[in-house]
Amino acid sequence: MYTTLHTYLTDNILTITINRPDKLNALNKTVMSELGEVVSEIYVNKDIKGAILTGAGSKAFVAGADISEFQGLSASEGEDLARRGQEIFARIESSPKPIIAAVNGFALGGGCELAMACHIRLCTPNARLGQPEVNLGLIPGYGGTQRLTRIIGKGKALELMLTGRMADAQEALQIGLVNYIIDPDELLTKCREMLAIIGEKAPLAIAKIIECANIAAEGGAEDGFLYEQESFGECFGTEDMKEGATAFLEKRKPRFTGK
Ligand code: COA
Repeated sequence: MYTTLHTYLTDNILTITINRPDKLNALNKTVMSELGEVVSEIYVNKDIKGAILTGAGSKAFVAGADISEFQGLSASEGEDLARRGQEIFARIESSPKPIIAAVNGFALGGGCELAMACHIRLCTPNARLGQPEVNLGLIPGYGGTQRLTRIIGKGKALELMLTGRMADAQEALQIGLVNYIIDPDELLTKCREMLAIIGEKAPLAIAKIIECANIAAEGGAEDGFLYEQESFGECFGTEDMKEGATAFLEKRKPRFTGK
């Protein structure tokens, strides 16, 4: 179905592998368009409760946008490229179902931006993350100036973006760019375990938490508090909330149905 992605669905978890290992899984036009398609699949397919994004091979998650496609682009074509990329990554970030980045090596430029659009990031010890666009006379264009600043703070984000330096896995963990460092042979298992835990919760609550956190990260403090109030209220209108509270009081595990 896809030419640059390998996907498989098991236990309600869709694992998506970007499959251009000879080019360190660089994001060319086809990868970007197929990422757009697979994100739509995550939204609409009721069998999918969460997803994992990773890169083929043991060297790279994604080493950036495909630099060979940059040559000869005009200013307006460059802007269009950034707009399309940002739209796709925004859909990942806004997905009502959790998406975990399994960062199995280099996550540079668009690769770091892709990982940051995901809700949670786990990486292997050999991972290197950064925004080296400045080395090409460029700036991050798939949301990196915004998401990196939100995730790790302005001071550290500016240092990484202005120098183009890569952070190793330990530093990425220390600055909050990744959640955990996991051995390569355990990486997908750990992602699946995390998604299985999330998958046991009420889907509406999960979607609302993602939405509210996204509003917070966008700096919408007042709107965010209001949105949280409304969303909290909406949860009270669900069968799942009633089931959750009843199960707690009856000292049993809740059985959420998504209603
Ligand atoms: N776009 C296009 N091709 C890329 C790429 C990218 N972002 N990143 C790597 N590749 C290709 C290389 O051109 C090379 O292809 P080739 O074998 O046909 O020559 C192949 O992937 C392997 O990469 P190579 O550079 O030989 O590996 P390395 O181990 O020496 O270096 C990196 C690894 C990640 C440090 C290096 O590839 C790199 O700096 N990549 C670009 C990172 C970047 O600037 N990303 C932001 C883009 S906006």
